[in-house]
Amino acid sequence: MARNELILNGVTKRFGGLTAVDDLTLKVEEGQIYGVIGPNGAGKTTVFNCITGIYKSEEGSINWRGKEIRGMTPYQIVRRGIVRTFQTIRLFSEMSVAENIMSGRHIKSRQRWWHGIVHTPASRRDERENWKRVEQQLDFFNLSEFAATPTNSLPYGIQRRVEMARAMAVEPTLLILDEPAAGLNDKETLELLQTIFRIREQGVTVLLIEHDMDMVMEATDYLTVLNFGKKIAEGTPDEIQEHPDVIEAYLGSEHDDDE
Ligand SMILES: Nc1ncnc2c1ncn2[C@@H]1O[C@H](COP(=O)(O)OP(=O)(O)OP(=O)(O)O)[C@@H](O)[C@H]1O
Ligand SMILES: [Mg+2]
Repeated sequence: MARNELILNGVTKRFGGLTAVDDLTLKVEEGQIYGVIGPNGAGKTTVFNCITGIYKSEEGSINWRGKEIRGMTPYQIVRRGIVRTFQTIRLFSEMSVAENIMSGRHIKSRQRWWHGIVHTPASRRDERENWKRVEQQLDFFNLSEFAATPTNSLPYGIQRRVEMARAMAVEPTLLILDEPAAGLNDKETLELLQTIFRIREQGVTVLLIEHDMDMVMEATDYLTVLNFGKKIAEGTPDEIQEHPDVIEAYLGSEHDDDE
């Protein structure tokens, strides 16, 4: 059986004259928590957009479970088990928490559109299964008390949890998180870390972008560091923290920000 392995080989994405991702090669292994870090504008989100089919890279190959997915539509890629969250929250703000999580179920639903109108036995079975899965996510993300609350009336940290719950409701094998700790306080960040470990325990491989260095060094097994679209280093968190190019490019620029 094909392993849940993601292999990027020579991926290049340009916007006009700008090479946002430059000949990127990396391999995410099954069961890993894999981090992508780098300064602002390094090309991290663009890599995720190429993997999830939002952009098509001009060059290279993106191989998931032994199949080429470069050029597939976002929907086809979701159907293959790759699900993401976005850097900025994208919830249906006036819908309840439960309805937002349900929207993730509908992405993967097997139903034909007319089943919703004529209520076939298959559609009723699907709906029952969907609500069961929504309840599981409410429980897993500790959101049950907010099930009926519109997401726009909830604090930011809880909205972030709803986004992850919606993604998990799609039952991914690869979960892609774009800066999940952004805007979270220390306590929420610690909870997020625990949640990511619990997600991995369910057999889900996790690929994440993160600016919070403490968090990323705690969370990940392996890291790739980008700068100006190019990979400048890869390794375990310990190796990366010692890497002179990374200190120069990433940690160096962070120090500049503080001054
Ligand atoms: N749709 C687009 N059109 C033109 N340029 C783009 C587009 N998307 C991204 N870019 C450019 O590509 C480069 C990489 O952007 P990207 O958003 O991938 O960076 P990032 O590493 O995610 O940064 P951040 O940490 O700020 O989120 C930047 O120079 C950005 O301005
Ligand atoms: Mg980004």
